[in-house]
Amino acid sequence: MTAPRHFLTLMDLSADEIRLLIDRAIELKAQWRAGNPQRSMEGKVLAMIFTKASTRTRVSFEAGMAQLGGSALFLSGQDTQLGRGEPIEDTARVISSMVDIVMIRTFAHADVETFAQHSRVPVINGLTDDYHPCQILADLQTFFEVRGDIQGKTVCWLGDGNNVCHSWMNAARQLDFEVVVACPEGYDPDPTLLGACCQWVRIERDPTRAVQGADLLVTDVWASMGQEAEQNQRAANLAPYQLNRSLLDLAAPDALYMHCLPAHRGEEISAELMDAPDNVIWQEAENRLHAQKALMELLIGG
Ligand code: CP
Ligand code: NVA
Repeated sequence: MTAPRHFLTLMDLSADEIRLLIDRAIELKAQWRAGNPQRSMEGKVLAMIFTKASTRTRVSFEAGMAQLGGSALFLSGQDTQLGRGEPIEDTARVISSMVDIVMIRTFAHADVETFAQHSRVPVINGLTDDYHPCQILADLQTFFEVRGDIQGKTVCWLGDGNNVCHSWMNAARQLDFEVVVACPEGYDPDPTLLGACCQWVRIERDPTRAVQGADLLVTDVWASMGQEAEQNQRAANLAPYQLNRSLLDLAAPDALYMHCLPAHRGEEISAELMDAPDNVIWQEAENRLHAQKALMELLIGG
C-alpha cells in the first residue's frame, strides 16, 4: 500500500500542485454553477473530527463531498471516545480503516501530525493553533480570480501573527510573493517559521508603513479559539492594526482586502469595510467549498 498524501501545512504540496489546485478549484466552481457538478468522489467517505467550533469549514467540506458524490461524517471530539481519552494513534488506525479521507480541526498541531502518522488515508488540517492551510487555498483562489497570479505581489497581514498568518507565510515562500506582517511586539509569528520564510516575510511595527503599496490586506480575529480569556488585553494592544478605510487608502490603489471570518466589526476590521459592496470576503468564504473539493481530489486521486 502506498503511503497516503496528507495536507497538514501548505508545504505538503509543491508550488506547481498549488497552482494546479487553484485552476481546478476555479473549474469546479464554474461547473457547479453551470449545474454540471463533477462526481469524482462517488462512494467516498470523509470523516471530519472537530474539537473546536466551525461554520465554514464544516459546511464547505460536508457540502463539497456531497456535491462530488461522496458523503461526510461529523465527529465532535466530545461525542467520540477521543473525548474520553482514547489515544489519537488508536483512533487514527480505526477511523482510517473505515473511511477514504479525514479532516481534523483541533488545538495542538502535533495531534494532527500524530493522527496522520497512524492513518492509512489522507489527513487534512482543518485548522490547528499553528496553521490554517485550507483557508489560504481559498484566499489564493480568490486573489487569482480577481487579480491573477500572486507571484511578485505584496500582502500585508494586520494584527495577530497567528495560525492564519503562518499559513500566509508558507504561501509566500511557495508562490514567491512578499508578506509584510504588521503587529506589535508580543504578537509576532512563530520565530522558527519566520526564520525559514525570511526571504519573503518581514515584520513592520508601524501599520501605516506596513500597508504602503500592498496589493492585498488581510486580517483575522485578535483572540483565536482558545484565547478567549485574553480578549480585552489583545483588543487594547492590537487596536492600531484595525483594517479600516484609512489604512486601505495607503495601500496600492486597487488593493483587495480579506478576512477568513468570523469577523468582529469594529475590532480587527471596521464595519464599513466588512459591509462594503465591492469586498471579496464573501467570495473568499465561498471559495472554501471549491478549493477543498480540488484538494480532496488531489489527495485521493493523486
Ligand atoms: N474561516 C473558517 O475557518 O471559518 P470557520 O471557523 O467557521 O470554519
Ligand atoms: N485565528 C482564528 C481563525 C478562525 C477561522 C482561530 O484560530 O480561531
